Amino acid sequence: MKPKVYITRKLPEIIVRKIEAICEVRMWPEEDIPVPRDILLDEVKDIDGLFCLLTESVDESLLNAAPNLKVISNMAVGFNNIDINLATEREMIVTNTPGVLTETTADLTFALLMATARRVVEASAYLREDKWKTWSPMQLTGQDIYGATLGIIGLGRIGEALVKRAKGFDMNILYSNRTRKPEKERELGIQYRELDCLLQESDFVCILIPYSPQVHHLIGQRELGLMKETSVLINTARGGIVDESALYDSLKEGSIWAAGLDVFEEEPVSTNHPLLTLQNVVALPHIGSASKQTRLKMADLAAGNLIRILTGKDAITKVN
Ligand code: DGY
Repeated sequence: MKPKVYITRKLPEIIVRKIEAICEVRMWPEEDIPVPRDILLDEVKDIDGLFCLLTESVDESLLNAAPNLKVISNMAVGFNNIDINLATEREMIVTNTPGVLTETTADLTFALLMATARRVVEASAYLREDKWKTWSPMQLTGQDIYGATLGIIGLGRIGEALVKRAKGFDMNILYSNRTRKPEKERELGIQYRELDCLLQESDFVCILIPYSPQVHHLIGQRELGLMKETSVLINTARGGIVDESALYDSLKEGSIWAAGLDVFEEEPVSTNHPLLTLQNVVALPHIGSASKQTRLKMADLAAGNLIRILTGKDAITKVN
C-alpha cells in the first residue's frame, strides 16, 4: 500500500506527479488561499506524510489529529511554524529547504536595501501621481549605499551571500552572531561586533537570523534607539524579531531613517497597519525566495525529503 500524504497548497504539476509516483496524495486545491484549519485537521487523520508551508501551524492539536504521521516536510528554510520538540518526542521527522533559496533571498535582501535607501517605491509613486514638476537639488534624496557600513545580524548562509553582494558596493561589513566565526572574518574580510555596537556603527542593519522565542522582539525600543538617525533597518527573516510598534515610533520620530520589511509579525499584514502609513517604509509580502526557479527547487527538495523518509531513506535536509 502506498503511504498517504497531504499537501496543504496547490503545487506545480511536476512536483505533484513526483510525489504521486510513490504516495497516495490528497492536496488542498487552492493556490492563494490557505487550507482552513478544520479541513486540515480532518485531512491529516490518516496520513503518513505532510507537505506544508510556513502558513500552517504544525502544533500539538495538529500532531494529535495525525497519529500515523512520520514526516513533516516544510517548504521553507524557517520552521518556526512547527513544534519541533513535540514532533521529535513523537519520533516524527521534520525537514526544511535550506541552501536552494540562499542566493535568491540574498538578492531580495539587497534589492530591498537599495529600494529603501534610494526611495525607489516612493519616487515611482511621486512620478505617477503627477508630483514631478521639475528637477530640484534635494528632491527625493536618499542614503548612499556604496562605501557605507552594513551590519548583518546572523551570519548564516544568507548572511554570507549578502556579504558578497555588499562587497561589490565597497561596503564596510560588520556582523553579529550567536557564535563568532573568525575564519569567516578572515575569508570574507568582515568584522565581528556585539549587537549593541553593530547597531551603533551601521548605516544599514539587515536581520537574517531564524526566529525562535529567544529572539522575539530582539530589536525593540532600546535597540532602535542605538541606531543612527540616518540608518536603515531591513528585515527579510521573520516579523517577530522586530517590535513593530517600537519600529513605528522610531520611524515616525526620525530616530532611524527608514525600514525595508519583507516580513511582519502577523502575515498577511493588515493594510491598516500603522507601518504602512509611513513613506519611509518599503513593505513587501514575504517574497524573499520568490523566484520561479527557486520556488520550484524548494518544492522539489521538500518533495524529495518527504519521499525519502516514506521509503525508508534518510532525508536530504533534516531539522531534527
Ligand atoms: C523561508 O524559507 O523560511 C522563507 O521565509 C520563505 O522562503
